[in-house]
Amino acid sequence: MPLNNQIAIVTGGGQGIGEAISIHLAKQGKDVVVSDINLDSARKTAAKIKSLGCQSLAIKADVSNSRDIEKMVDLTREKFGRIDRLVNNAGIVIVKPIVELEEEEWDRLIDVDLKGVFLCSKMVARIMINQKRGKIINISSSSGKMGTEFFAGYAAAKFGVIGFTQGLAKELARYNILVNAVCPGIIGTKMWEMVDGELGKRLGLAKGRAFQKEIEKIPLSRAGTAEDVARVVAFLASSEAEYMTGQAINVTGGMVMH
Ligand SMILES: NC(=O)c1ccc[n+]([C@@H]2O[C@H](COP(=O)([O-])OP(=O)(O)OC[C@H]3O[C@@H](n4cnc5c(N)ncnc54)[C@H](O)[C@@H]3O)[C@@H](O)[C@H]2O)c1
Repeated sequence: MPLNNQIAIVTGGGQGIGEAISIHLAKQGKDVVVSDINLDSARKTAAKIKSLGCQSLAIKADVSNSRDIEKMVDLTREKFGRIDRLVNNAGIVIVKPIVELEEEEWDRLIDVDLKGVFLCSKMVARIMINQKRGKIINISSSSGKMGTEFFAGYAAAKFGVIGFTQGLAKELARYNILVNAVCPGIIGTKMWEMVDGELGKRLGLAKGRAFQKEIEKIPLSRAGTAEDVARVVAFLASSEAEYMTGQAINVTGGMVMH
């Protein structure tokens, strides 16, 4: 499904799921702007994209900062002149009982995981509306469909991402802009390494055991990979998915079915 000359922005593209998405989009022939709060990792992903024969640009941007996002959009327009795909992937998680979660931590979760999706979508939508086409794909989570202990703040943000996706899908459909969400389950990235450590501390479990316990809940009996998620995002970003909007697709090995 080669789609030449299409330009995609992937936030949090420096590692994990965002890196895999960036590479899969490049394999579809798209040029990819890799945006991340960590410029070094964004540069590494951008170098991999260039080695696949596509153009790439690494940009340092914090998705919760509107000035950074304005700059990200301006730099993309200067270099490429258009934006065809936006993947709102950047995210953080804080694992804590609610009585210990500080107000600043709550604010940071909501700022990155929810406001970041709003800011990037708003600034890119202006361009897509002028183009009268485009696709926005938001990375929510199984925590966007089902709350879990110690993840209440994260779940609040990720449920919010799905509501935002549905509202935006209806609002932007008239401009031929499709907006969908993808909800990964347990995916073996650095984020889950951190979660395993935090849950292990809380529940008195040895390293790797919390991760293992989660995997036992998955009908397909394995953790997902970043590539499992990236392939679904690449499908939504492709011309094969022209009649889907406002959806929140689980990539959870059957752990979530609604
Ligand atoms: N790993 C999982 O099991 C899992 C499950 C469900 C959903 N998700 C979601 O998938 C997305 C990617 O997760 P991952 O597992 O690859 O995580 P990760 O921690 O491995 O990577 C996250 C990337 O986002 C970047 N980032 C963090 N804060 C940022 C900010 N404010 N602005 C810009 N970039 C920022 C990081 O530098 C990093 O490169 C997140 O939205 C996460 O909530 C992950």
